[in-house]
Amino acid sequence: VDLSDIINLFDLEKRAAEIMTKMAYEYVASGAADELTVRWNRESLDNLKLNPSVLRDVSQLDTRISLFGDELPYPILIAPTAFHKIMHPEGELATARGAGVASATYVISSFTTTPLEEIAEVATQPLWFQLYVQDDRSLVKDLVQKAEAVGCRALCVTVDTPVPGIRNRQDRVNFRLPDEVKAPYMHGLGDQKKLLTWADIDWLNSFSNIPVLLKGILNPADAEQAVQAGVSGIIVSNHSGRNLDTVPATIDVLPGIANQVNKRVPLLMDGGIRRGTDVLKALAQGADAVLVGKPVCFGLACGGADGVSKVMTILRTEFELAMTLTGRTTIASIDRSVIWKPA
Ligand code: FNR
Repeated sequence: VDLSDIINLFDLEKRAAEIMTKMAYEYVASGAADELTVRWNRESLDNLKLNPSVLRDVSQLDTRISLFGDELPYPILIAPTAFHKIMHPEGELATARGAGVASATYVISSFTTTPLEEIAEVATQPLWFQLYVQDDRSLVKDLVQKAEAVGCRALCVTVDTPVPGIRNRQDRVNFRLPDEVKAPYMHGLGDQKKLLTWADIDWLNSFSNIPVLLKGILNPADAEQAVQAGVSGIIVSNHSGRNLDTVPATIDVLPGIANQVNKRVPLLMDGGIRRGTDVLKALAQGADAVLVGKPVCFGLACGGADGVSKVMTILRTEFELAMTLTGRTTIASIDRSVIWKPA
C-alpha cells in the first residue's frame, strides 16, 4: 500500500478495509454487540472542546514523560492487540520495528503470534507485556518470568475480560485463526474457569519483579482497590468497546478516576484516541499517557513496520500541534483548564 496517501488515522482505516481479508478486518474493527461504547468513545472525545491560551512563547515544546524509570519522548504507547500475523506476515516483529522507528513503547499481547524472544531481539524501544491470566497458574508464572527475562519493563494485567464479550461481527465471519498462525502462550480463547480476582493480583505482585498495572478499570472504587492492592499503575480502558457494550466512554470516566487516584500511581487511558487533540484531552482529564490499539493494527496491515511508525508519527505530530496551538508547552501544563467550559 502506498502510505503517502495516508494523511490521518481515519484515512488509514479506510485503506485497511480495502486491503485486509474480511475476517481480519472484522476482527480488528468490530466491537461488542451494538457497538454503542465504540461509538461513545469517539463521540465523547469529539464533544469536548478546547480552550486555547494565546500569546505564550510556544517556540520550545517538551513532550517527555517518565514512566517506571524510562523516559518516553511523547505520551503515546502502542496498546496490546492480539494476532498480528493475521494483519501482516511479519506480525509482531513489524510492530516492534515500527515502534522502534517511532520511539514508542510497545505493549505485547499475551496473544502474540511471535515468541517474546524474537520480538525482544528486534526491539530498540521499551517493551511491556500484557497478561491474560489463564487457569494454569504455574504457566502464568512462567510467562511473567519469561516476559521479565526478555526485558519487558512492565506488566499490564487485563482485568476486564473474565469471558470474551458478545462479538456479533466476528461470529458472522466465523472468526478463527488460520492454521499457520499460532498464539504460543495462550491455551484456548477465553477458556478461563478459575476466574481472576483481587487475590490473584496479590499473588502476581508477590513475585513480579516489574511494575504491575491493571488494564480495564472503569470506576473510582475499583481504582481505589487497585491502589490499595499495591499496583504500580492503572489503565482506564473499556477494551475499545469490545467486551461489555454500553459501558461509558473512557474519557468520561477518566476525571472521576483521576480524582480518586490523585496521582498516587500513573494513570493511563485508551479507547478511541485518533487525533492529537484526543491525546491532549485525555491528558487534560487526568491521564499521564494514552495507548492506541486499532490504528496500529490498521497501520500494520497497510504497511508493516512503516505503517506502524506512520501511525505513531502522525499522532505525535498532531499532539505537538495541539499543544502549540493551545499554548501548553509542557506535559505538566496540560490540565483541566485546556478543556473549554461554558461561562
Ligand atoms: C485489543 N485489545 C486487547 N487488550 C488486551 O489487553 N489484550 C489483547 O490481546 C487485546 N487484543 C485486542 C485486539 C484488537 C484487534 C483490538 C482492537 C483491541 C484492547 C486494546 O489493548 C486497547 O484497550 C484498545 O484497542 C484501545 O482502544 P482503540 O485505540 O483501539 O480504540
